[in-house]
Amino acid sequence: MDDLKIAIGSDHAGYEYKEKIIDYLNARNIPYTDVGTHTKESCDYPEIARSVCERVISGQANRGILVCGTGIGMSIAANKVRGIRAALCGDTYSARASRAHNNANVLCLGERVIGEHLALDIVDVWLQTGFDGSRHKRRVDMIE
Ligand code: RB5
Repeated sequence: MDDLKIAIGSDHAGYEYKEKIIDYLNARNIPYTDVGTHTKESCDYPEIARSVCERVISGQANRGILVCGTGIGMSIAANKVRGIRAALCGDTYSARASRAHNNANVLCLGERVIGEHLALDIVDVWLQTGFDGSRHKRRVDMIE
């Protein structure tokens, strides 16, 4: 996890998991930028998604993590940004495959859908898994 630079964000519905994930990143000395939100007051997830994705596309970060209530709004918004491959994951198998097969550069999670410990396991697997390349690269290139 040496060269990781994370951009992380949530709306109000994902705020608590964002803070837990930040605790996880701090414990492992993984650098990150927290684009907000910083309170539980209602806010609009598309703005947060754009902010994280812009950092990934510009190279300020190399991976993004987005949390909302379901993860769905964040993933829809993130995947509108050219070059973003956002994966909404609710299990560790998908998290691993999203990196190994799809080279996902943004992870989306739903705080109202999965438990906190599963969410942190998903983050752990997702950050540790590399892209397998070969035939998967050809397919990702087709998307790009
Ligand atoms: C907020 O109520 C909720 O709609 C949002 O967090 C997200 O789940 C949208 O997809």
